[in-house]
Amino acid sequence: MSVVAIISTKGGAGKSTVAVHLAVAAAMKKRRPLILDFDKRQLSVLLWAKGLRRRTKSPAIQKGAIDTLAEDIAAASKKHDLIIIDVGAGGGDEVRNIATIAEHIVVPVRASAFDIAATRNTIELLRASADNTEPEELAYRNALGKAVIVLNCTPRRPTAKWRKEVDEALESCGAGGVQVIGSLADRPAYSTAIERGQGVTEEKEDEDAVAEIIALYDGLAEIEKERVNKLKKTRRTK
Ligand SMILES: Nc1ncnc2c1ncn2[C@@H]1O[C@H](COP(=O)(O)OP(=O)(O)OP(=O)(O)O)[C@@H](O)[C@H]1O
Ligand SMILES: [Mg+2]
Repeated sequence: MSVVAIISTKGGAGKSTVAVHLAVAAAMKKRRPLILDFDKRQLSVLLWAKGLRRRTKSPAIQKGAIDTLAEDIAAASKKHDLIIIDVGAGGGDEVRNIATIAEHIVVPVRASAFDIAATRNTIELLRASADNTEPEELAYRNALGKAVIVLNCTPRRPTAKWRKEVDEALESCGAGGVQVIGSLADRPAYSTAIERGQGVTEEKEDEDAVAEIIALYDGLAEIEKERVNKLKKTRRTK
């Protein structure tokens, strides 16, 4: 089981898009994902599921509550093997607590100059949050250590020059050491699929979008595997 929080203080960065598409992709890989919805506004993932996805049971979606988050995760681990936490825009104690508890943090960053610059707030929030994941030996100095980036709304054919500029911009906002595990181009399919109550990997209308989501899911699975391997190693040496 792993707990993955999707965090960006910036509104509209792609948190819910990434949360839903990762969860749908995980379900298609025969995993049992649960989305914990921490977005308190109207167009939340929970309302999306209730309105447009009534007949589809996976991913399960539940309203998140910070006061009971640890208990809710423990209870969910009986039925689920992946918890994806969709966090609302903005920072504050709630987001810091979620960052402290999650095993992995995915930060969607729209790949434009203004958006990358705004990522500094998210980076600072993560740096100011503890990492309380178990066992203690695996915990990072702060929550930034367990964060990865997903570049969002990238050009469809990114050039090496473009990527170099993005890397430089990330570097200058303090995200230089943070691994990029995937990128999603700017594609209408991401919103039209959601409007139809589906993920792009279910709808299969845009094969490039499908490939991007599968690659992103594989990138996530890879960092989950690395953590499990580290866990096994620390247990063996005990
Ligand atoms: N790769 C993409 N291509 C095209 N549209 C996108 C892409 N990613 C996100 N969008 C669109 O951008 C808008 C914002 O995305 P989303 O709701 O996922 O962001 P968010 O970070 O969850 O926002 P909030 O901070 O308000 O919760 C949505 O309309 C979504 O459909
Ligand atoms: Mg959202």
